[in-house]
Amino acid sequence: MGTPDRPLSRRRLLGGGALAVGGGVVGAGLTAGAHAFAATDAQPATPAAPAVQVLGTQTVPFYGAHQAGVDTPAQAHAAFLSFDLRPGVDRAALGRMMRLLTDDAARLTQGRPALADTEPELAAMPARLTVTFGFGPKLFAAAGLDSHRPTSLAPLPAFPIDKLQPQWTGGDLLIQICADEPLTVTHTQRMLIKDTRAFGSIRWTQRGFRRSRGMEDDGVTQRNVMGQLDGTRNPKLGTPVFDGAVWVDSGPTWLHGGTTVVVRRIRAELETWDAADPTAKEFAVGRRLSDGAPLTGVDEHDQPDLAKTNELGFTVISESAHIARAHVTSDRQRIFRRPYNYDEAPGPDGNSDAGLIFAAYQRDIGTQFLPIQRNLAENDLLNDWITPIGSAVFAVPPGCREDGWVGQSLLG
Ligand code: HEM
Repeated sequence: MGTPDRPLSRRRLLGGGALAVGGGVVGAGLTAGAHAFAATDAQPATPAAPAVQVLGTQTVPFYGAHQAGVDTPAQAHAAFLSFDLRPGVDRAALGRMMRLLTDDAARLTQGRPALADTEPELAAMPARLTVTFGFGPKLFAAAGLDSHRPTSLAPLPAFPIDKLQPQWTGGDLLIQICADEPLTVTHTQRMLIKDTRAFGSIRWTQRGFRRSRGMEDDGVTQRNVMGQLDGTRNPKLGTPVFDGAVWVDSGPTWLHGGTTVVVRRIRAELETWDAADPTAKEFAVGRRLSDGAPLTGVDEHDQPDLAKTNELGFTVISESAHIARAHVTSDRQRIFRRPYNYDEAPGPDGNSDAGLIFAAYQRDIGTQFLPIQRNLAENDLLNDWITPIGSAVFAVPPGCREDGWVGQSLLG
């Protein structure tokens, strides 16, 4: 999974989603054969356009060893939904719910309406839609399966920097919806909430965004709301380092091929950040704002030299800089960050309510996320400008085959 952008076949183009994007687009995708047909049909000749695949029709495979939406290059829009299970929802009910939700996700991600879709037209633009499910700590007890809960899947300890608000914290079921089109996210969210209603109530919803797709080359590091290039030192998708850091390969066998996710809502104190000068901002992170290069290097991807000292004997990258505090030496300890920006309506004073929906994926929260978060909570210059206001953890089951459903290895 994670290899998106299945080429647009003519059958799909003519038969389904692409038609929704209008005649001009269909023209762009026509094959030579179709052009010949148009000519004999005495249509006015149109100049051959390059065979561009429209972003809205692109799909990411749903079935596979891993759930999509983790190693999928991040889409432009996301919704993170957390649900509390209703009293009495047990293992059998959870199985029914996950069968239903898997079916919805399998259809919608491929540009097909969900069963009983009230707006089937809206399903026609999958725009690399992925739907990823996660199980919160209390779901295991509800299912009578607490012995199958990964040991470190528990609410994170309280950190001194935290100002957690209940409306952004916890939850038994996570549905992460990502697509390059916000209306696709909205429609998918509605369909999935409808089918979850009998089993759970919404605890929180967080909508996030990144740069619009097509604004810059795929794969370049994005800027966050604070203006920083964010994601430079992430494990690279599709590499053994990524696989070894993210996919579970030990512990409870039902989770092998899955992962865990920590979702932190972190407010960016943009008004005071604005008041800081660029040197202070760069010192706090240890990287330049202009190009993301470490303060000891020239290019974004140069290895930071955390030991390099200046003429006064101080390290060039402060020991309290964010990248110094967050750095780990073993690849197995790394985390994969897939954050989205959020930006809610400013308050009456005009102050921003913005920050990151910081989603981090790792095999094991206890040995990967926690030590990094502890280091940062203890001492990170960036803490002056960021405040965690929400926190939740989920186990993300492996993917499933066409004859199965997500979560079957635990609940089936
Ligand atoms: C609003 C909050 C945060 C902001 C704005 C932020 C920003 C950044 C920036 C600009 C970088 C440098 C570029 C890069 O490698 O991506 C970075 C690196 C990193 N951050 Fe954060 N970060 C935040 C929160 C966190 C949290 C909560 C964690 C983990 C608990 C974390 C872990 C890391 C790691 C592991 C690196 C790479 C360090 C290395 O060079 O090895 N960050 N972050």
